[in-house]
Amino acid sequence: MNNLIIINARILTPLGTSAKKGKAMDQLFELPNGTIEVTDGIITYVGPDQLSPKEGYEVLDAEGRVVLPGFIDSHTHLVFGGYRPEEFIWRMQGDSYMSIMERGGGIINTVRATREASVEALKEKTEHYIDVMSRMGVTTVEGKSGYGLNKETELKQLEVMKATNEDPNRKVDIATTFLGAHAVPTEYKGREEEYIDFLIDEMLPVVQEKGLAEFCDIFCEKGVFTVEQSRRLLQAAKKRGFGVKIHADEIVSFGGAELAGELQALSADHLLHASDAGIQAMAKNNVVATLLPLTAFTLREPYARGREIIDQGCAVALTTDLNPGSCCSGSIPLTFALACIYMQFSVAEAITALTLNGAAAIGRAETIGSIEVGKQGDLVILDAETPAILPYYPGMNAVRHTIKRGTIVSS
Ligand code: NIG
Ligand code: FE
Repeated sequence: MNNLIIINARILTPLGTSAKKGKAMDQLFELPNGTIEVTDGIITYVGPDQLSPKEGYEVLDAEGRVVLPGFIDSHTHLVFGGYRPEEFIWRMQGDSYMSIMERGGGIINTVRATREASVEALKEKTEHYIDVMSRMGVTTVEGKSGYGLNKETELKQLEVMKATNEDPNRKVDIATTFLGAHAVPTEYKGREEEYIDFLIDEMLPVVQEKGLAEFCDIFCEKGVFTVEQSRRLLQAAKKRGFGVKIHADEIVSFGGAELAGELQALSADHLLHASDAGIQAMAKNNVVATLLPLTAFTLREPYARGREIIDQGCAVALTTDLNPGSCCSGSIPLTFALACIYMQFSVAEAITALTLNGAAAIGRAETIGSIEVGKQGDLVILDAETPAILPYYPGMNAVRHTIKRGTIVSS
């Protein structure tokens, strides 16, 4: 049954069908004693408590607790084989993320494990992370390929996500991204241009034909793919109708944010070292600046200039980056707290970043990301009457119920 009425809700939500930029991120619609009605999975009423009980609807009394739109984690690498705890320990002892990658570890390490993993094993692991994320209030997640770097395994990763999306009882929807340009595979070492050709000529057409990804992403970074190579791949992807995203300025300032502006990418992600010109280019071209403070925390790197990026008029999204290397955590509560504590986000800004702006970063702001009639009934009920619980409880789960299309999927 997907018919639900929530009463006595302290509703807090951004409003609208596009990302909120700059100051607008701080403005939430608030209704202290509200009712939300979801019919067949879609929100059909939001307003004061005045609905009388209806047949065929489950009624949930929120008892004054906060109800938010379901969280949208718009940047993860949730389908992967193996783990890399030894690299984490090396980093704690002073090694850097890039030096481990240059030695053949890092992403390539996970590529080996993912190529070896069976579809069943990958599915099981993905389901595990979906359960964990759902308990923390996530109702939609973006998932990337990028641990295959060959046709067979890139498609295998995308097929795993497709299988989840075909389950009618799924707890989360997955927005899928082709990240074949996550690293240069060992077979193509020294032949980076040829690898980009391979992605353009042999991978994008298949991924498109099979309908396996909505977006194309690239790790645009010193020592990985250049700005020129990124431009070439993403232009080809755009021509085919893919939305484009960029892992930009994560390790050094490299011009990724500027490129995102130039290409009018849906998002530029990480941005730890984004330049002033890059920030302006994103604001001007409506690129969602996507920040991943948990990765900075885990890599012991400085946080992105989140406060300034909002003040410069960008739309900002917050995500976890869940992956086996740079950030093996999908913790929404810790992400929320780090944004407020270290990047000076207000609670309202962090909520907007994890809901409507996350939806915009995956091109879904018309259907999810806010509590409004016509949008999907994807909701989170907190275990508190104040949203301040979110940063106040760092790393602790303040979610009481997660609701997907009007069904309580996690409690
Ligand atoms: O977003 N930087 C590139 N990609 C991931 C890390 C992937 C990995 O280390 O396995 C990121 O941080
Ligand atoms: Fe990433």
